[in-house]
Amino acid sequence: NTKGFIFDLDGVIVDTAKYHFLAWKKLANSIDVDFNKEQNEQLKGVSRVKSLEKILAWGNKSISEDEFMSLMAKKNDDYLSYINKMGEDEILPDVPKILNYLKINNQAIALGSASKNARKILEKVNLISSFQAIVDGNDVSKAKPDPEVFLIGAKLLNQKPENCVVFEDSVAGIQAANIANMISIGIGDKNVLHEADYIFKDFTEISTDFIKELVKK
Ligand code: BG6
Ligand code: MG
Repeated sequence: NTKGFIFDLDGVIVDTAKYHFLAWKKLANSIDVDFNKEQNEQLKGVSRVKSLEKILAWGNKSISEDEFMSLMAKKNDDYLSYINKMGEDEILPDVPKILNYLKINNQAIALGSASKNARKILEKVNLISSFQAIVDGNDVSKAKPDPEVFLIGAKLLNQKPENCVVFEDSVAGIQAANIANMISIGIGDKNVLHEADYIFKDFTEISTDFIKELVKK
């Protein structure tokens, strides 16, 4: 029995949301727009372009195309300064345990992320070889909640969507998995991720028995 297991990256495998927050906050403040943690929550799973559009809307700012491109580049340079310092110690608890369990049980594993920095981050934390397929922000034209990213992942794993399981920390990502007709597993707050088929605070709450049952389903 083989299923496809598709992992989101930011907030599921590594806690990069804190770096996105610092970089967006610095950028927003530099153009006199306030930015707080609640707003950051709304940017989870959202593409870089859409994130900047939201920040500009919150601050009632309109800027030229050139300025927009330059602000995006600035944000990413700042974000990369944090990413470049990352190491294996930033893998979230029990993620390696689940990845290993899936591997020894011959399950198909993919990454499905909105980030254009996904490969770089996986290399930094030494997990790149854990994934048979990687679908990231460079491969998709439609952002989550569109299911494109996960459907491409399923295809690369040679699995039907209904035989795929998605781990996600964002509302948009859970919606994408549901629209794709996949089993959705929310990682985070159950009040935020209530649309998911299953919800866990983090991977320490996920037992290998639970995974075993999913594979049998
Ligand atoms: C998602 C993050 O995984 O990737 C978002 O949750 C981020 O916060 C998006 O904006 C795009 O990432 P990047 O690295 O290409 O700017
Ligand atoms: Mg995420």
